[in-house]
Amino acid sequence: MKISAKMKKALNDQIGLEANASSSYLAMASWCEVTGYEGAASYFYAQSDEERTHMLKVVHYLNDMGAPATIPATKAPAASYKSLETMIKTALKSEQTVTAAIHKMVEIAQKEKDHSTYAFLEWFVNEQVQEETKFETILQKFDLIGRDKLAINEIDKLLAAQATAPEADPAA
Ligand code: FEO
Repeated sequence: MKISAKMKKALNDQIGLEANASSSYLAMASWCEVTGYEGAASYFYAQSDEERTHMLKVVHYLNDMGAPATIPATKAPAASYKSLETMIKTALKSEQTVTAAIHKMVEIAQKEKDHSTYAFLEWFVNEQVQEETKFETILQKFDLIGRDKLAINEIDKLLAAQATAPEADPAA
Protein backbone atom coordinates (compact mmCIF):
# COMPACT_ATOMS: atom_id res chain seq x y z
CA MET A 1 0.00 0.00 0.00
CA LYS A 2 1.81 3.08 -1.21
CA ILE A 3 0.70 6.39 -2.51
CA SER A 4 2.37 8.25 -5.37
CA ALA A 5 4.34 11.48 -4.94
CA LYS A 6 1.59 13.28 -6.86
CA MET A 7 -1.11 12.00 -4.52
CA LYS A 8 1.01 12.79 -1.49
CA LYS A 9 1.40 16.39 -2.68
CA ALA A 10 -2.33 16.73 -3.37
CA LEU A 11 -3.19 15.41 0.11
CA ASN A 12 -0.66 17.72 1.75
CA ASP A 13 -2.17 20.64 -0.18
CA GLN A 14 -5.55 19.52 1.15
CA ILE A 15 -4.23 19.85 4.71
CA GLY A 16 -3.51 23.48 3.82
CA LEU A 17 -6.99 24.04 2.39
CA GLU A 18 -8.69 22.58 5.46
CA ALA A 19 -6.41 24.54 7.80
CA ASN A 20 -7.16 27.75 5.89
CA ALA A 21 -10.89 26.99 6.06
CA SER A 22 -10.60 26.43 9.81
CA SER A 23 -8.82 29.74 10.43
CA SER A 24 -11.04 31.62 8.00
CA TYR A 25 -14.19 30.36 9.79
CA LEU A 26 -12.60 31.23 13.12
CA ALA A 27 -12.06 34.80 11.88
CA MET A 28 -15.67 34.89 10.62
CA ALA A 29 -16.92 33.66 14.01
CA SER A 30 -14.90 36.28 15.80
CA TRP A 31 -16.17 39.06 13.52
CA CYS A 32 -19.76 37.86 14.07
CA GLU A 33 -19.22 37.82 17.83
CA VAL A 34 -17.99 41.43 17.97
CA THR A 35 -20.64 42.57 15.49
CA GLY A 36 -23.48 41.17 17.60
CA TYR A 37 -24.39 38.15 15.47
CA GLU A 38 -24.30 35.67 18.32
CA GLY A 39 -25.97 32.82 16.45
CA ALA A 40 -23.69 33.14 13.45
CA ALA A 41 -20.72 33.33 15.81
CA SER A 42 -21.55 29.98 17.44
CA TYR A 43 -22.27 28.49 14.04
CA PHE A 44 -18.89 29.53 12.64
CA TYR A 45 -16.92 28.62 15.78
CA ALA A 46 -18.36 25.12 15.39
CA GLN A 47 -17.66 25.18 11.66
CA SER A 48 -14.05 26.12 12.36
CA ASP A 49 -13.72 23.12 14.71
CA GLU A 50 -15.23 20.90 12.05
CA GLU A 51 -12.65 22.00 9.49
CA ARG A 52 -9.91 21.11 11.94
CA THR A 53 -11.30 17.57 12.15
CA HIS A 54 -11.20 17.40 8.33
CA MET A 55 -7.58 18.51 8.38
CA LEU A 56 -6.72 15.88 11.01
CA LYS A 57 -8.31 13.13 8.94
CA VAL A 58 -5.87 13.90 6.11
CA VAL A 59 -2.90 14.20 8.49
CA HIS A 60 -3.67 10.77 10.00
CA TYR A 61 -4.28 9.20 6.60
CA LEU A 62 -0.92 10.36 5.22
CA ASN A 63 0.89 9.21 8.35
CA ASP A 64 -0.87 5.83 8.27
CA MET A 65 0.18 5.41 4.65
CA GLY A 66 3.83 5.93 5.54
CA ALA A 67 3.93 9.30 3.77
CA PRO A 68 4.36 11.71 6.71
CA ALA A 69 2.12 14.76 6.57
CA THR A 70 3.63 18.22 6.18
CA ILE A 71 1.84 20.91 8.20
CA PRO A 72 1.72 24.09 6.14
CA ALA A 73 1.51 27.75 7.15
CA THR A 74 -1.99 29.16 7.03
CA LYS A 75 -3.03 32.32 5.21
CA ALA A 76 -4.17 35.29 7.28
CA PRO A 77 -7.96 35.42 6.88
CA ALA A 78 -9.99 38.60 6.31
CA ALA A 79 -10.70 40.39 9.58
CA SER A 80 -14.04 41.93 8.67
CA TYR A 81 -16.93 41.69 6.21
CA LYS A 82 -19.39 44.10 4.63
CA SER A 83 -22.35 42.06 5.83
CA LEU A 84 -23.37 38.67 7.14
CA GLU A 85 -24.56 37.75 3.66
CA THR A 86 -21.21 38.71 2.06
CA MET A 87 -19.43 36.64 4.67
CA ILE A 88 -21.52 33.55 3.97
CA LYS A 89 -21.00 34.02 0.22
CA THR A 90 -17.24 33.96 0.90
CA ALA A 91 -17.69 30.76 2.91
CA LEU A 92 -19.62 29.12 0.06
CA LYS A 93 -16.93 30.12 -2.42
CA SER A 94 -14.25 28.60 -0.22
CA GLU A 95 -16.25 25.34 0.02
CA GLN A 96 -16.54 25.24 -3.77
CA THR A 97 -12.74 25.51 -4.01
CA VAL A 98 -12.36 22.66 -1.52
CA THR A 99 -14.87 20.53 -3.46
CA ALA A 100 -12.93 21.09 -6.70
CA ALA A 101 -9.66 20.07 -5.00
CA ILE A 102 -11.26 16.89 -3.63
CA HIS A 103 -12.73 15.96 -7.00
CA LYS A 104 -9.30 16.44 -8.55
CA MET A 105 -7.79 14.04 -6.01
CA VAL A 106 -10.51 11.49 -6.76
CA GLU A 107 -9.53 11.70 -10.44
CA ILE A 108 -5.84 11.17 -9.57
CA ALA A 109 -6.78 8.17 -7.39
CA GLN A 110 -8.85 6.68 -10.22
CA LYS A 111 -6.08 7.21 -12.75
CA GLU A 112 -3.45 5.70 -10.47
CA LYS A 113 -5.74 2.83 -9.38
CA ASP A 114 -5.07 3.97 -5.81
CA HIS A 115 -8.03 2.21 -4.22
CA SER A 116 -7.10 3.14 -0.64
CA THR A 117 -7.07 6.87 -1.30
CA TYR A 118 -10.16 6.57 -3.48
CA ALA A 119 -12.03 4.95 -0.57
CA PHE A 120 -10.62 7.49 1.90
CA LEU A 121 -11.84 10.39 -0.25
CA GLU A 122 -15.41 9.12 -0.49
CA TRP A 123 -16.24 10.60 2.91
CA PHE A 124 -14.96 14.01 1.77
CA VAL A 125 -16.97 13.91 -1.47
CA ASN A 126 -20.19 13.38 0.51
CA GLU A 127 -19.21 15.91 3.16
CA GLN A 128 -18.69 18.60 0.50
CA VAL A 129 -22.21 18.08 -0.86
CA GLN A 130 -23.52 18.75 2.65
CA GLU A 131 -21.26 21.73 3.30
CA GLU A 132 -22.19 23.49 0.06
CA THR A 133 -25.88 22.79 0.59
CA LYS A 134 -25.69 24.20 4.13
CA PHE A 135 -24.30 27.53 2.95
CA GLU A 136 -26.60 27.70 -0.09
CA THR A 137 -29.60 27.15 2.19
CA ILE A 138 -28.50 29.96 4.52
CA LEU A 139 -28.00 32.29 1.54
CA GLN A 140 -31.52 31.49 0.30
CA LYS A 141 -32.86 32.80 3.62
CA PHE A 142 -31.77 36.34 2.73
CA ASP A 143 -34.03 36.19 -0.34
CA LEU A 144 -36.85 34.53 1.59
CA ILE A 145 -36.82 36.47 4.86
CA GLY A 146 -35.13 39.71 3.82
CA ARG A 147 -32.12 41.86 4.54
CA ASP A 148 -33.46 44.39 7.03
CA LYS A 149 -32.44 44.34 10.69
CA LEU A 150 -35.32 42.11 11.81
CA ALA A 151 -34.71 39.64 9.01
CA ILE A 152 -31.00 39.41 9.80
CA ASN A 153 -31.84 38.86 13.45
CA GLU A 154 -34.13 36.00 12.39
CA ILE A 155 -31.37 34.48 10.24
CA ASP A 156 -28.94 34.81 13.14
CA LYS A 157 -31.39 32.84 15.31
CA LEU A 158 -31.64 30.14 12.65
CA LEU A 159 -27.87 29.87 12.62
CA ALA A 160 -27.81 29.56 16.41
CA ALA A 161 -30.17 26.60 16.15
CA GLN A 162 -27.89 24.92 13.60
CA ALA A 163 -24.61 25.46 15.43
CA THR A 164 -23.37 22.04 16.42
CA ALA A 165 -20.19 20.62 17.78
CA PRO A 166 -18.33 18.39 15.32
CA GLU A 167 -19.38 14.74 15.46
CA ALA A 168 -17.07 12.47 17.37
CA ASP A 169 -15.23 10.47 14.77
CA PRO A 170 -13.07 7.56 15.87
CA ALA A 171 -11.06 7.86 12.66
CA ALA A 172 -10.26 11.54 13.20
FE1 FEO B 1 -13.48 20.71 5.05
FE2 FEO B 1 -15.66 22.61 4.58
O1 FEO B 1 -14.32 21.64 3.84
